Amino acid sequence: ESKKIAIAIDGPAAAGKSTVAKIVAEELSYIYIDTGAMYRALTLKALNHHIDLEDETALVELLLHTKIELQKNGKNQIVLLDEQDVTIDVRSQHVTNNVSYVAKLPAIREELVNRQQQLASHRGVVMDGRDIGTRVLPDAEVKIYLIATVEERAKRRYEENKRRGIPSSMEQLIKEIEERDRIDSERDASPLVKAENAIEVDTTAMSINEVAQFILDAASKLIVHE
Ligand code: CDP
Ligand code: CDP
Repeated sequence: ESKKIAIAIDGPAAAGKSTVAKIVAEELSYIYIDTGAMYRALTLKALNHHIDLEDETALVELLLHTKIELQKNGKNQIVLLDEQDVTIDVRSQHVTNNVSYVAKLPAIREELVNRQQQLASHRGVVMDGRDIGTRVLPDAEVKIYLIATVEERAKRRYEENKRRGIPSSMEQLIKEIEERDRIDSERDASPLVKAENAIEVDTTAMSINEVAQFILDAASKLIVHE
């Protein structure tokens, strides 16, 4: 029997968090929880309902009547919003450009952090986001803080968009990533910041597999086989 642990992966936009988190979870047969998808799902619903994104009371009311589920589908994860598959919709440009305004509201964070902690109540979990090591799972055995230059992160998103047939410009992507990182880092409620005991990994010149292997090596030291 091996001891099951929690692995927290944080960092700025497009640093590779969800891609490597999925690989690590798959390798360890752990569950993977994409907390960004939860903020995105609520943002999508608020936009669809034309709710003012500065109206915290209305957004909390909406969230309390909103079911967000993350389901495993082969190697991927699907996002269900009130039973509807919104996996593709939550990644839209419109949601991406608005999600940080919703995510900075303290009452929204409180409710979603509660839900995330419940989802992770059993060990054997890889969770990625902005405040996993600092707020959601402060006792996580392994905390990773992934970074890369903004140019590299924009390039990765650019290539990803190209693969999906979505046109985008490097200049625009750099602007959007910088703006979202700024809002996420400057907010008062659990901002994006490296946890004191997190291992910072600069992935600028690393492949996906190199990053995943680094995290698996860090984890293997803590998964003691008895
Ligand atoms: O994948 P990408 O880095 O573009 O973003 P994401 O992980 O899907 O997160 C989208 C947004 O949700 C972030 O820019 C944050 O504003 C918010 N978020 C957060 O505040 N806390 C988390 N634990 C996860 C996401
Ligand atoms: O979750 P986060 O926003 O941090 O990033 P992601 O969506 O996992 O990764 C953004 C893009 O970068 C994806 O298309 C990955 O395939 C790519 N990537 C990469 O090229 N090299 C890495 N070391 C990590 C991710």
